[in-house]
Amino acid sequence: MKIACVVGARPNFMKIAPILEEMKAYPNLKPLLIHTGQHYDYTMSQVFFDELDIPKPDVFLNVGSGTHAVQTAKIMIEFDKVIAEHKPDMVLVVGDVNSTLACSLVSSKLWIPIVHVEAGIRSYDRTMPEEINRVLTDVISDYLMTPTEDANKNLAKEGISQEKVILVGDVMIDTLIKYKDKAISASSGIMQELGLEKASYVIMTLHRPSNVDIKENFAGILEALWEIQKHIKIVFPIHPRTKNRISEFGFSDKVSQMKNLIILEPLGYLKFMGLMINSKFALTDSGGMQTESTVINIPCLTMRENTERPETIREGTNTLVGNDTQTIISESMKILEGKGKKGTYPKIWDGHTARRIAEIINSRQ
Ligand code: UD1
Repeated sequence: MKIACVVGARPNFMKIAPILEEMKAYPNLKPLLIHTGQHYDYTMSQVFFDELDIPKPDVFLNVGSGTHAVQTAKIMIEFDKVIAEHKPDMVLVVGDVNSTLACSLVSSKLWIPIVHVEAGIRSYDRTMPEEINRVLTDVISDYLMTPTEDANKNLAKEGISQEKVILVGDVMIDTLIKYKDKAISASSGIMQELGLEKASYVIMTLHRPSNVDIKENFAGILEALWEIQKHIKIVFPIHPRTKNRISEFGFSDKVSQMKNLIILEPLGYLKFMGLMINSKFALTDSGGMQTESTVINIPCLTMRENTERPETIREGTNTLVGNDTQTIISESMKILEGKGKKGTYPKIWDGHTARRIAEIINSRQ
């Protein structure tokens, strides 16, 4: 059975790695790896292939950046050709990026069964492009592999047949568990270079359009960082989108005046994860970091109004702080005073999600 496995953007790579690895146990499964090229910089893409032993893609679509419509349309046109040439029996997509939706749409019109890994998570915020991608991908998928009970409930509410829904766990956590020790050693050099000790700094990511594309929102977050970095170093591997906005909005001087804000180029998986594991807390607007920080058991402040990962709030270490300056500062200070959240996480995030996925796919031939 030929399975076209689709990746495109940074958060896809750590999800596909364990799935491809586990598929090796089944000689009948023939994965064909398709990289859409949604992300193309070395630090946003290739470094993950090198570090996580992901095989070289069989097909690279080279679509690059563009508006959502342009990017999605380009992926669809190119993926249509891939299907015509390779005739896969199944298409597997992960996560919620534009590549996920574009390839699902093409497959569904060609009646090719779709497996969606990380199905069913919902922020119920349709201003997020990822939410549109999730809802639409789920509605046309044939096998909805979910990370949590919450996701199953969301799908039930949307009237999706429960026969299609399979709770498998969080595949990103497979990669975290597998590479944790390697990540800690990989980050020791950079920690030394930057003079960082365990729990002596905050790890931050920030790139969501609602935070960095709207000048006032970005300015409010910078005000909060100004205050926080007076008390603790902030390590900030910067997304290209955010870097561009800093210069466009005229924030460069303000940013360079923050002596304890350490801006780095985007990091590969290992160094980044090592830095997160050793940090005091995470300050982020990313989706995946909310679950990863919960599993590592370090507090996470999420600069969003809502989350598609409610279990990280309920059971885990996550707190929503939005982009309100005072809330970001006060919640950070609480953590520095030793009042950070401790938590647990769903039992099914056991590091064997990809094994379950491969087993199920193999059994459905
Ligand atoms: C995408 C995902 C988002 C994910 C994020 C992680 C969608 C809708 N969004 O958002 O869910 O959290 O990836 O990074 O798919 N750029 C580069 N080099 C690259 C890639 C992008 O310079 O390798 C720049 C381009 O100027 C581009 C911008 O970053 O316009 C944004 O990239 P894009 O792929 O449109 O979305 P992300 O914001 O990265």
